[in-house]
Amino acid sequence: MCGIVGYVGPKSTQEILLGGLRRLEYRGYDSAGISVITNGGALETRKKAGKLDNLIAEITNHPLAPANIGIGHTRWATHGAPTDGNAHPHLGGPTSKLSLIHNGIIENFAELKAELVAAGTKFASETDSEVAAHLIAAEFEKTGDLVAAFGAVVKRLHGAFTILVIHQDAPDVVLAARCNAPLVVGLGDGENFLGSDVAAFVEHTKRAISVGQNQIVILHSNNVELRTFDGEPVVPEEFTVSWDASAASKGGWSSFMAKEIADQPQAVADTLMGRLASDGSVRLAEIDGLTEADIKAIDRIVMVACGTASYACDVAKYAIEKFSRIPVQVELAHEFRYRDPIITPNTLIVAVSQSGETMDTLMATRFAKEQGAKVLAICNTQGATLARESDAVIYTHAGPEVAVASTKALVAQMTAGYLLALFLGAGRGAVPAAELRSLGKELLKMPARVNKVLGRLDSIRALGKELSTAKSVLFLGRNVGFPVAMEGALKLKELAYIHAEGFAAGELKHGPIALIEEGQPVIVIVPSPRDADSLHPKVISNIQEIRARGARVIAIAEEGDAEVENYAEHVTYVPKSANIFSSILTVIPLQLFALELATAKGLDVDQPRNLAKSVTVE
Ligand code: G6P
Repeated sequence: MCGIVGYVGPKSTQEILLGGLRRLEYRGYDSAGISVITNGGALETRKKAGKLDNLIAEITNHPLAPANIGIGHTRWATHGAPTDGNAHPHLGGPTSKLSLIHNGIIENFAELKAELVAAGTKFASETDSEVAAHLIAAEFEKTGDLVAAFGAVVKRLHGAFTILVIHQDAPDVVLAARCNAPLVVGLGDGENFLGSDVAAFVEHTKRAISVGQNQIVILHSNNVELRTFDGEPVVPEEFTVSWDASAASKGGWSSFMAKEIADQPQAVADTLMGRLASDGSVRLAEIDGLTEADIKAIDRIVMVACGTASYACDVAKYAIEKFSRIPVQVELAHEFRYRDPIITPNTLIVAVSQSGETMDTLMATRFAKEQGAKVLAICNTQGATLARESDAVIYTHAGPEVAVASTKALVAQMTAGYLLALFLGAGRGAVPAAELRSLGKELLKMPARVNKVLGRLDSIRALGKELSTAKSVLFLGRNVGFPVAMEGALKLKELAYIHAEGFAAGELKHGPIALIEEGQPVIVIVPSPRDADSLHPKVISNIQEIRARGARVIAIAEEGDAEVENYAEHVTYVPKSANIFSSILTVIPLQLFALELATAKGLDVDQPRNLAKSVTVE
């Protein structure tokens, strides 16, 4: 999974490409490169292993001539180590006049490479991508028609790919092909753009076209043409990007992650906007297509996602089952797809993904659709593949999330899950409408409460610094606090590279308690003591059990819960709310804790090692 950007137009191509790569760097940051066709007609390429800054230094040392057309790539290595040679772009043909970038995997590259090697082609890299560069260059040599050559070759490729190509002998066009990997077109005035997602060009234009499966884009400065791989013309579907370009810059924060944590009140508010009326009733116009009869017919919901998004599903399960009494099953998308799951036309699949491009999630939803299920997506990125391929979409309005570790997208997903739960609850009538409306009113108060949490994080921040040498941190929670505990542990693994695990607090006595020894930090999400059926006393007992065995207990508890102070070494309080919605609040101190601990260790919190934000391979 990599980021790709393309440009044709009068502005400085180098600046546009590097700016686009900066915004796409979250997709991979092992190496980066750009190619341009200069105004003098020469193809020039610069590429470098490591982060984008290395490429920028390379360009500073070896400047590129002015150009009005080019392509750029930021890589997350699959075939071939992250070296200068394996960085994209790759050049094709004996005279290296063609330049190509690729996101995805060409599964039949070995046989194609054998064919080229037999014909005498010399390879400069170990990548699968270079094969496509040589094939297209060779085909162009034969026919002199770049579009036809490109079309003929992409049809021979198997796997997942977005490919962009420029050629010195066709200096006014960028060609792009899309098959199982993302691609969006940005429409400007006398200039046009290509990107893995709209973040690549949103600072230049908000007019965009999403490209369908097995389609080719022929991009000129004044014209964009779409065709199928078979050459049939495609009528483009234009949309307007709602993201604000400034939302994708750090704006004075020390990291994107710090900024995105601070963006969370807005992310929750924007996700609720227009969907939750002041009387607490929910309107989800996006799923108007689901009639009351459809909702009544749903006999099971299967939520599929990966990583952090799967914890949003875990939270939603509690709410959907409570409010609607529809059974919910949460599945990691990659496990679900390959175990012959039971799906009927009455199964509703809810796929949750920030990017909408996670291949595991896409494969799971495609499979479910083939079995006749309806798919509802909860997605943050307009024009994303998941959104295109689902029957309906509830967009989370978190804005662009750049840091690899998800924060604001998660709270927006949780918010959307709660809205869906209230909506389904109203449709099923299992819970009195007045009760649901009162919960809806409670949900409306969450942005202000999230804001309040953000103002109270100094002590957890200090604790993150203090524990920077910890070898392991455990997290415990119950009910919606359980997925929050899992997310707290994931954040620490992702950012600080230390052992961390989340457990259901009730499971403690069945094994994990054996891990507790003197000084072991344990973060406990304590439920509100106010509900009649609160699990508060049980969690307090758990705290006592681990304290007795030497654990350092750090509690995240509801304000006013004085009892917890008797047992925990440290307490961070969050505002009172209905326990079911508390995940939106209790997760925030855990995000900050991981951020501070990783920062104290001197790590890059926006781009942790080995990770990519959007995993577009299975
Ligand atoms: C990757 C990222 C995670 C993210 C997961 C799902 O693994 O590193 O942070 O939660 O993908 O991403 P999605 O875009 O589908 O929400």
